[in-house]
Amino acid sequence: MATYVVVGLQYGDEGKGKITDVLSAKSDYVVRFQGGDNAGHTVYAGEEKFVLHLLPSGVLQCPGKCIIANGVVVNPKAFMHEISQIEEKGMRSDHVFISRRAHVIMPYHILLDTYREEEEGGTQIGTTKKGIGPCYEDKIARVGIRMVDLLNPEVLAEKIRKNLKIKNSLFEKYFEKPGIEFEEIYKEFLEIGQKLKHRIVDTEVELNQAIHDGKNILFEGAQALMLDIDFGTYPYVTSSSPSTGGVCTGAGVPPTSLQNLIGVAKAYTTRVGNGPFPTELNDELGEKMRKVGQEFGATTGRPRRTGWLDLVSLKHATMINGINNLVITKLDVLSGIPSLKIATKYKTEDGKIIDYFTSSTTKLYNYEPVYEELEGWNEDISHARTYEELPANAKKYIEFIEDYLGINVYLVSVGPERSQNIIRKELF
Ligand code: GDP
Ligand code: IMO
Ligand code: MG
Repeated sequence: MATYVVVGLQYGDEGKGKITDVLSAKSDYVVRFQGGDNAGHTVYAGEEKFVLHLLPSGVLQCPGKCIIANGVVVNPKAFMHEISQIEEKGMRSDHVFISRRAHVIMPYHILLDTYREEEEGGTQIGTTKKGIGPCYEDKIARVGIRMVDLLNPEVLAEKIRKNLKIKNSLFEKYFEKPGIEFEEIYKEFLEIGQKLKHRIVDTEVELNQAIHDGKNILFEGAQALMLDIDFGTYPYVTSSSPSTGGVCTGAGVPPTSLQNLIGVAKAYTTRVGNGPFPTELNDELGEKMRKVGQEFGATTGRPRRTGWLDLVSLKHATMINGINNLVITKLDVLSGIPSLKIATKYKTEDGKIIDYFTSSTTKLYNYEPVYEELEGWNEDISHARTYEELPANAKKYIEFIEDYLGINVYLVSVGPERSQNIIRKELF
């Protein structure tokens, strides 16, 4: 019995949800530790398609408990909506709990996120407008409202009043928009607290006990390392730590308890929102990847930008995360492309060749990827279930990634369905 961490290694949407869903069947706990309903995780259960945002992707199959831990920012209305969506499809939800310490996304966070994105002359990050950044800002500024506060009328009233004073002045004076009335939201959030109180618990105590008891615990990351607040392409990032390190602060478990660190990467690269993307393809091939890979945002519906696999950024991501097991998804999408490029180095604006990721986001726009070219394959690989069934060139592609990163690929995903996996080593 052991702990498992699943994190994204690129710019999100690597297929973490599908992998978590598969692994959750044998987990006693599935735990979200950061992010919020900015995530969009697609899971197919037979004919049924689920798009999960705030709920852990393990919610459908986990026989134990699903925890939304302290590091997550919770929009309680989005939470209740998602719960009713899965219940309507006949799934259980009585095993989902939220940490008392998790911060609440309030309506003013969503407005602030939206106004900033729409502000002329501002830095448009291309956020999901779910209020994620503003909620984490308040957490760090020590003025945030936590789930536990929804259960205490006096504390909630005082916190909302104090927050509205500042937020309304910003809305009215700076953005020239109407403010929010106290009564409008106080009563609503008090009622929400009552509706959710049976789910609001101290999750860190239970999780540490479960580790002590040798249970199977799966920590599920949202977003990905290249969107990490510290190690991503700042400021074009999200406002949390989607790294394996984020598990410790986001769920209250010690670093020594983390064992299997699983990094998920697509066989190519996609990105939604703004920011540098060195291997981006703004051509027919990029369009083909988008079409074949169905690359449209699961949360906002925006078309995802597409491009070649970037091993320079992937090495950065595996290093920071300490990944010891790789998952490569969507290999099937590359079938039929005669020649496949993989970036192994960058050429800087002054002609220097480097093989490490840069902290200078502005410079990255001018870096050119240096590619290695590998022969493609024509076969449809979506029915392959063993590594041996893959065409020789598909295997070479996987092994090229392994050699560069020095990490084994333990699972190759060849389609969106639960069964479309090549598992080379059973981890559970
Ligand atoms: P997440 O945010 O990392 O969970 O990923 P998303 O769910 O946002 O995006 C991944 C998309 O690819 C979803 O539509 C999945 O159903 C789909 N998908 C996952 N794995 C595979 C795969 O191996 N092949 C194909 N063709 N689609 C996949
Ligand atoms: P999953 O878990 C892809 C991106 C947004 C934007 C930036 C900041 O499905 O992989 P935010 O709303 O978080 O402040 O937006 O991060 N972003 C994602 N991109 N997948 C996600 O989640 C994302 N969550 C946020 O597009 O560029
Ligand atoms: Mg997604």
